[in-house]
Amino acid sequence: MSDAIQSIRGFSDILPDETPCWHWVESVFRQELIRYGYQEIRLPVVEKTALFKRAIGEVTDIVEKEMYTFDDRNGDSLTLRPEGTAGCLRAALQQGLLHNAQPRLWYAGPMFRHERPQKGRYRQFHQIGAEAFGLPGPDLDAELIALTRRILINGLGIQNLRLEINNLGNSESRGRYRAALIQYLEQHHDTLDAEAQRRLYTNPLRILDSKNPAVQAIIKDAPDLHDYLDEADGAHFAGLQAHLQAAGVEFVINPRLVRGLDYYGGTVFEWISDNLGAQGTVLAGGRYDALVEMIGGKPTPAIGFAAGVERLVALVTDAGHAPATETPHCTLVIGTPDYAVQATGLAESIRSALPWLRLQLVTGGGSMKAQLRRADRSGAQLALILGEAEVANESVTVKSLRAEQGQVTITQQDLIQDLSERFAQPTDERRLRDGV
Ligand code: HAM
Repeated sequence: MSDAIQSIRGFSDILPDETPCWHWVESVFRQELIRYGYQEIRLPVVEKTALFKRAIGEVTDIVEKEMYTFDDRNGDSLTLRPEGTAGCLRAALQQGLLHNAQPRLWYAGPMFRHERPQKGRYRQFHQIGAEAFGLPGPDLDAELIALTRRILINGLGIQNLRLEINNLGNSESRGRYRAALIQYLEQHHDTLDAEAQRRLYTNPLRILDSKNPAVQAIIKDAPDLHDYLDEADGAHFAGLQAHLQAAGVEFVINPRLVRGLDYYGGTVFEWISDNLGAQGTVLAGGRYDALVEMIGGKPTPAIGFAAGVERLVALVTDAGHAPATETPHCTLVIGTPDYAVQATGLAESIRSALPWLRLQLVTGGGSMKAQLRRADRSGAQLALILGEAEVANESVTVKSLRAEQGQVTITQQDLIQDLSERFAQPTDERRLRDGV
């Protein structure tokens, strides 16, 4: 094993006992996004580096130190997408989707950031995100947040989640606040850590996010962003709160909630779990009304969010909500290789008659004992045995692999009825939940 090639650090394999939970999480998102009028868009994993530099901001952690950037064979600088908003917006503009329309789009897939891996933080991770273009009002912001509440709490049943909201102001009010914040932090320059000193003139709002207790102590008395919001910002924020209350969405206002990407202005929000340790944000987003113009389009208001699928799967699994692994319901075992052809025919006719049934054929020969051992290891409930006597009189022996119920021999004609009674066809709701 020592010279076997291993996966890259921070890039995970998602194993068969985990994939049913992934399917379930993805299907809950998909169902609710569709109900709220969002349509799926599938986007490239690689974009031009310039797109992310312009959209996310040159002085952000992502662009400064986390992007997987490389020159392709033509010498063009390309980057594995670190997030989905920039590419979604690029596609909407390029494909004319914003022309006299207010599209609502969603996407899912892997994202890449060269961060220090730890629990809940990976270098390849998966997001499900949504973006709504063309509408400026707080009613849209509240609807989007209500949608995320429906997914996380009603759909996935996640508990102990807190919704934090904030308003970062428009670019003028944020500019005034930025100047006041710099002036305040300059007075404490020597107590700031190297990271905060570096950001002081480039991205001071991010200092509010510092995890360093010494910096936090300084921030405690920093000017309050909300004192710098103008009337329109204040009205928008009050409107958001009124709409959230009407929708029955509980929230906490966190005036220090800034976001790691530069494109945000106005409403921002995060859903945070206390059950995940340091990487507790499971879904986050906000408005980015200035970005469309920055990328080369006409001024177009926009808001969106993205959820971290690894973190949601971890929460759902820890809470015991993960659907069962999709082991076969039954396996078909043959007495000797002479019956392999009949077994193939029988298996296919059962699969045609019962489309939801998971039937595995124990192929590869071996003694009956060895085959039954393989059937048992597959996790199946039942073994269907096709031996000499069964082939002769067109019957099958049905043996329980899990319960001490002995075995019965029934005709192949009755088998379909028997299996459909043992393994009921899943309802739509169960199919959604268990991905069957
Ligand atoms: P973000 O806050 O960078 O926002 O990421 C959104 C979510 O992705 C995070 O809350 C977290 O759950 C997950 N996530 C981020 N980095 C990692 C990582 N290294 N490992 C595991 N999970 C991670 C955005 O990406 C914005 N594009 C969201 C958005 C859409 N805003 C407007 N529209």
